[in-house]
Amino acid sequence: MRSSILTVCLVAALTAAAGCSRDAATPAADSTPPAATPEAKVNDTAAAADRDEHSYAQPDLVRIDDLALQLAVDFASKTLTGSATYTLDWADPKANQLVLDSRDLKIEKVVGERADGKWVDLKFALADADKTLGSKLTIDVPERSKRVRVSYVTSPGASGLQWLEPSMTEGKKTPFMFSQSQQIHARSWVPLQDTPSVRFTYTAHVTGPKDAMVLMSADNDPKAARDGDYSFKMPQKIPSYLLAIAAGDLVFQPISNRAGVWAEPSMVKKAATEFADTEKMMETTEQLYGPYRWERYDILVLPPSFPYGGMENPRLTFATPTVIVGDKSLVSLVAHELAHSWSGNLVTFSSSKDGWLNEGFTSYVENRIVEALYGKERSDMENVIGRNELAAEFKTIDPKLQALALKPGTLKDPDEASSATVYTKGAWFLQFLEQRYGREVFDPFLRGYFDHFAFQSIPTTKFVEYAKANLLAKHPGKVSEAELEEWIYGPGIPKTAPATQSPRFDAVDAARKAWTEAGTLPDKALTAKWSTQEWVHFIEGMPETLKVEQLSALDAAYRFTGTPNGEIAQRWYPLAVRSGYRQADQAIAAFLQKIGRRKLIMPTYGELVKTPEGLKLAEDTFAKAKPGYHPITTASVEAVIAKAKSAPQAAAK
Ligand code: BES
Ligand code: ZN
Repeated sequence: MRSSILTVCLVAALTAAAGCSRDAATPAADSTPPAATPEAKVNDTAAAADRDEHSYAQPDLVRIDDLALQLAVDFASKTLTGSATYTLDWADPKANQLVLDSRDLKIEKVVGERADGKWVDLKFALADADKTLGSKLTIDVPERSKRVRVSYVTSPGASGLQWLEPSMTEGKKTPFMFSQSQQIHARSWVPLQDTPSVRFTYTAHVTGPKDAMVLMSADNDPKAARDGDYSFKMPQKIPSYLLAIAAGDLVFQPISNRAGVWAEPSMVKKAATEFADTEKMMETTEQLYGPYRWERYDILVLPPSFPYGGMENPRLTFATPTVIVGDKSLVSLVAHELAHSWSGNLVTFSSSKDGWLNEGFTSYVENRIVEALYGKERSDMENVIGRNELAAEFKTIDPKLQALALKPGTLKDPDEASSATVYTKGAWFLQFLEQRYGREVFDPFLRGYFDHFAFQSIPTTKFVEYAKANLLAKHPGKVSEAELEEWIYGPGIPKTAPATQSPRFDAVDAARKAWTEAGTLPDKALTAKWSTQEWVHFIEGMPETLKVEQLSALDAAYRFTGTPNGEIAQRWYPLAVRSGYRQADQAIAAFLQKIGRRKLIMPTYGELVKTPEGLKLAEDTFAKAKPGYHPITTASVEAVIAKAKSAPQAAAK
């Protein structure tokens, strides 16, 4: 099911309920916003338009080619301590400064290697923090050293890390730690050129307590001894947002000879069963778009506080346990994260303005994998759910956010992007091209695109150029340049968009209608065959509010309240709150405390804060849940509550 991770912030902000606000801030007085320096001679307007506004780095002057990390994981102080050594490529002959991104890092020392091999201290300045971008770290490198090393300590509140007490894990014995670097949180655990336009190889030497296994987005060894001392190598060049680390009581179970699952011992079997189709998904994608280039593909199942559904860390997808529902109905998440091995990790957007190059392509490929493995009925249902979300979101959002390629200055924070645009409109555009050209042309075209730009970071303009030359010009008369440009640069959904019909959803619509109009609940024989997607559609199509007796009747028949299925809970609880169905309060509180995945819980918080009694439940629940929430989730919830409180007239009845 294509989901709306970004919408969580956006819609909430627009309904005056929230906003992913850690970031809505004014820069500190003496922190210079990133700007092209005169020396960079960025007089080419195209290059200027493509520059990454969310990084202080100046990759036109000097670039990180390789990163060597030396880190000690300390659960007691909730810190990573160590150093990052960069191998640099000095591109501009006049450059003698290395500018890095950082957030809440204590920088202890910076040294550079002289030509004679001696390491000497380098002067550095850490600017005051900007709430969105963090602190610019400027290092003077008068000798333009090939290697520079920064020694640092992370803060216990690092936005890109979560530290969990043993009590917050399944096993309750070992603490857990994991990173989430996208979009701009890598800088909170490694000082870096934190922009997807810079790619580097990396190695890491990580030490930690003996009872914790450490894994990274690198060459994890399923047979590695758990000895508190681990070494990693990522020989392919990746952007910073794909740097990842996790530590905890983790064990491995293979799915095939190149795929497997890492999870806490009590979860690993269930996870491997749910994700058993992973190898088939890999083979399907390889047939369409060429070889899988990252050797292993493993999935790490995180605790339920993981703030996203999945994260495509190369060789080691991070996944929420909330998709393990026992019937494989939510494994499109694996299809999605696996698809990023082509769209995103291999061919990467060069800034957040081009988010659709990652997420739109990936949602398209995800849908193809789901169709190949589970049939067109299922991929169509998932498409319809996404497009309904898009229709709702496009009613409220700024038209500027509805373009696939965003103009500079549109996003103050990268998390403000509209996921309906980036994911669903992006995928829909590719479905439009597929329909016009036919799969016999479009599939090889896409494969060629992945090969052509492999291991590069590109802006949308490069895709447009490539598509014009390899699709439009080679197969004239099918799609005009104006049509292409309308999809990419225009707001809304062009009239040329192909529609999707779902007979299975038509049956759900009919069943819902029979109930809302005549009170006849759908037959058990019918609902017994319903998948998660059908239940989601059943609830989503309900009127804005229902009578309490109606909600009770649904609960008596289907037990929505207390459901272990997060996708259903995500839709049911907001409806319950809007309808004043207080019987669900306890289950809502339990759900909000257990789950930290923003997409699942933010809609319920968003509804709760609209009334004084709901706001109280939201605040009480949040107070209990907060110690277990990820910093990204905490920031989102705090923003919703703060916004509701600052607009008391909205909360008052
Ligand atoms: N790369 C994203 C996660 C992400 C995007 C994190 C932007 C931070 C900023 C990942 O591939 C993704 O899209 N995850 C989805 C799952 C998916 C099935 C649509 C999610 O987490 O909901
Ligand atoms: Zn994605």
